[in-house]
Amino acid sequence: SKVNENKEYYEIMEEAHNYYKEEMFKNTARDALEYLSKRKINPKLIKENEIGYAPNEWTGLYDYLIKKGFEKKKIFDLGLAKENEKGIYDAFRNRIIFPIYSVSGKIIAFGGRSLEDSKDIPKYINSQETPIFSKGKNLYGFIQKGSNIKKKNYSILMEGYMDVLSSHSYGFDVALAPLGTALTEEQAHLLKKYTNNVILSFDMDEAGQKATERSILILKSAGFNIRVLLYKDAKDPDDYLKKYGKEAFLKVVKDSLEAFDYLYLRYSSEYSLEDHMSKQNFINRFKDFFQCLESDLERSLYIDKLGKSLNIELDVLKSILITNNKKRI
Ligand code: UTP
Ligand code: MN
Ligand code: MN
Ligand code: MN
Ligand code: MN
Repeated sequence: SKVNENKEYYEIMEEAHNYYKEEMFKNTARDALEYLSKRKINPKLIKENEIGYAPNEWTGLYDYLIKKGFEKKKIFDLGLAKENEKGIYDAFRNRIIFPIYSVSGKIIAFGGRSLEDSKDIPKYINSQETPIFSKGKNLYGFIQKGSNIKKKNYSILMEGYMDVLSSHSYGFDVALAPLGTALTEEQAHLLKKYTNNVILSFDMDEAGQKATERSILILKSAGFNIRVLLYKDAKDPDDYLKKYGKEAFLKVVKDSLEAFDYLYLRYSSEYSLEDHMSKQNFINRFKDFFQCLESDLERSLYIDKLGKSLNIELDVLKSILITNNKKRI
């Protein structure tokens, strides 16, 4: 049956994880440990977060799993090993391994980071979609910290594994990452079971800010209260925490902007607002956001703010921004 079949998949993932964890503390993992230590991830954090190492071998994991009696087909189904003309090879080689848990606490996937930043190989590879994993439906950091999110009644969404790990180690145990995808509707609904409040803390580069804008629409459609965290002189939350520490991060959390104010700031930098055309284009930029709003109160508050700051009559703004055909994101 499907349930029994999945049971074996979970067992294989568990064993694969054991293998990666054991490899982490062998002599052959010296470079990996050194790399993690450079990134301020010490052995205690490695153990707490069950980080592993995929050694620089072609079939280390594959041989280990076959020896344990698992079927080749199932190992392939999970994307742990693959095959080409030259033979079988492990999917993750010479990479730091981050385990990804399901909401019920089972290992369903891995993320693997290369030890060097090179143009020739991808920085991260993640498990493919498998019978037990679909990336758009899970969040990294979730299972271990799900209960804290409920208790503290908010979550901080970040881009990457390292951002989440650093945040947790500095005490921000409500951080989650959407696993290398843009945030999906399913992820928003999953999170909604734990809290209504999200702080977006993506990277400060253009890709991160685009993802922020897109995530605002998805989260707003799901009815979240959203704030956006902005910081200077750091690439991402991991970088920021390591450079400036916990107190500084607390301050930027406190200074985070309400989603509307964030969009206002972002869009104002794109237009001069000195002539009609530029005002019109600026207002148009808010269309998607307004179509995602569920609350009349919010709609009216934001129309008010825009009207005041642009010196435009509210009726005019309403006719542009509040349409009857609501968009579902
Ligand atoms: P980033 O490029 O911002 O990486 O990608 P990072 O998280 O800051 O990684 P470090 O600090 O250099 O180690 C953000 C996230 O996008 C996914 C990963 O989940 C990563 O954490 N990603 C990135 C990939 O899946 N593949 C890639 O090649 C790069
Ligand atoms: Mn385990
Ligand atoms: Mn990034
Ligand atoms: Mn980073
Ligand atoms: Mn980053």
